[in-house]
Amino acid sequence: MTEPAPSELSRLIVEGTPDAILYADRDGRIRLWNAGAERIFGFTAAEAVGQSLDLIVPERLRGRHWDGWDKTMASGLTRYGAGDLLAVPALHKDGRQLSIEFSIQLLKAPDGSVTGSAAILRDVTARFERDKALKLKVKELEAKVGKAG
Ligand code: HEM
Repeated sequence: MTEPAPSELSRLIVEGTPDAILYADRDGRIRLWNAGAERIFGFTAAEAVGQSLDLIVPERLRGRHWDGWDKTMASGLTRYGAGDLLAVPALHKDGRQLSIEFSIQLLKAPDGSVTGSAAILRDVTARFERDKALKLKVKELEAKVGKAG
């Protein structure tokens, strides 16, 4: 058995990991869409590559997303550079809303200009729904205790 070379290993991990890994160029067009992204969003790579990120950004959040995107592409700076997670709703191919969390990485050309952004992203819908139900329960209990006292 021969171990894959490090570059081959990186490629295999990016392509096959169950987390979504994607890359969009400066214009926000999807250029890389791995198996995890296919699994989470329901779009195949053939359907997603070449499309705008609007494919998965809910309409009501597009303004804020593109505003932040344009500033970051121009400045080369992001508030999320140290691995802080963006936690937002996203769209599945079937129209369902997902809750996702992701880190971003800016990719830069040798002259320092930003070529685009990669994201590593996870579907946290089940946890988000659980947290929402728990918060509601706490509120109900607080209301009951409040009434009793
Ligand atoms: C799919 C659903 C997505 C939604 C709803 C969304 C939403 C947002 C929002 C609300 C902001 C503003 C954040 C802030 O002001 O702190 C933002 C900024 C940004 N987003 Fe997205 N986004 C999505 C996907 C993505 C993806 C997949 C990438 C990368 C490939 C990305 C890259 C960025 C960048 C680079 C910024 C600017 C960050 C900064 O200001 O430092 N977004 N997005």
